[in-house]
Amino acid sequence: MDSIIVTGNGPLNGTIPIAGAKNACLTLMPATLLSDEPLTLTNAPRLSDIKTMSELLRSLGAEVTSMQDGQVLAMSSHTIATTKADYEIVRKMRASNLVLGPLLAREHEAVVSLPGGCAIGARPMDIHITALEALGAEIELKDGYLHAKAPGGLKGATHELRFASVGATENVVMAATLAKGTTVLKNAAREPEIVDLVHCLRKMGAQIEGEGTSTITIQGVDRLHGATHPVVTDRIELGTYMLAPAICGGEVELLGGRIDLLEAFCEKLDAAGISVEETEKGLKVARKNGRVKAVDVVTEPFPGFPTDLQAQMMALMCTAEGTAVLEEKIFENRFMHAPELMRMGASIEVQGGTATVHGVERLKGAPVMATDLRASISLILAGLAAEGETIVNRVYHLDRGYERVEEKLGALGAKIERVKS
Ligand code: EPZ
Repeated sequence: MDSIIVTGNGPLNGTIPIAGAKNACLTLMPATLLSDEPLTLTNAPRLSDIKTMSELLRSLGAEVTSMQDGQVLAMSSHTIATTKADYEIVRKMRASNLVLGPLLAREHEAVVSLPGGCAIGARPMDIHITALEALGAEIELKDGYLHAKAPGGLKGATHELRFASVGATENVVMAATLAKGTTVLKNAAREPEIVDLVHCLRKMGAQIEGEGTSTITIQGVDRLHGATHPVVTDRIELGTYMLAPAICGGEVELLGGRIDLLEAFCEKLDAAGISVEETEKGLKVARKNGRVKAVDVVTEPFPGFPTDLQAQMMALMCTAEGTAVLEEKIFENRFMHAPELMRMGASIEVQGGTATVHGVERLKGAPVMATDLRASISLILAGLAAEGETIVNRVYHLDRGYERVEEKLGALGAKIERVKS
């Protein structure tokens, strides 16, 4: 397993290109199952999760061709060979469950392995199941697989999610595009990745309104045609790299960055003393003056502060002036980066879903363990400003969601290298 070695090396300056969004691409790809015509995605990120989704779609009989160094994905599911999503692939990535809605819509059946828990939580699928049953699906759990069928096809319905689940919203929206009649989905998630999915489905001929709000209305159609669609900018990669100059000092321009994707996050950066300026190429970020100020954070569904930026924000708060309270309200176990940051000298108390961070002057490099995708990058951010060398182990987590980290941060003057093992 590879490791990454980071050595504190002062302020960072330069530009970072922001890639297409992993969490948009992972829901756009299964949309190919909804049509027998080709769907091409451009601005796709080059990540191991995208490779895993490609493998899953191929196992179902779709053709997926990666071109232009992985930035273009040409897909076509002319025929579906099987409706079974195998555990061996699904266990690697929870987002595999996003083939459930499209398979039900297109083939009126699906057998999808339950993804199983992961480091950050149990991550059940009850919200997906209840919603798809409202559309007429019959779903039962047998030997760790969801066996779903919809004899005669899905039927439009009005349904309210008990929680604004991102994945459940995506599964229902995709399933409802080919259902008979109208679906009104209430308490829908509002994430930009869902808006991007709807933009793509509309290009394919779907009739959908209300994306980005809590009520999405889908008028079922008989079939969808092919399309070409650019993947929206990755707001989580964007927010992550905005924190690099915040933690180290210096000034960095993030190409393709958009404030509208991260308003709640940018408000917190402003309160912490970080300047964010819109340029014609993206966003320019710098530390205004002196030490970063501690700010409190509560993670919420969009448009609130993103849970996927909580670990990275904690890294910034470790050397802030004052005490910051971070509340994680989306996942039940998403503070595994805290003990690793404490190995670097951070002062953090974790009580259930609340972490209290007492800022210290400076962290000290140490060997640390990556436990999940966002925890990995928060340790790298901490290492960028720490005194001495930080070795982040198990960086396969990192490669799931961040393309070419060493290249992007190295271009800013960071001392960072990957050690193959
Ligand atoms: C998506 O996961 C993202 N993944 C996650 O990003 C992100 O953290 C999450 O949304 C929240 O924003 C992708 O888009 C591929 P949820 P998803 O359904 O859809 C509970 C990353 O780092 N829940 O909104 O799985 C669930 O356990 C990843 O890129 C149920 O209880 O998130 C969690 O506590 C991590 N029952 C909460 O809801 C269900 O049926 C939010 O889950 C579904 C979810």
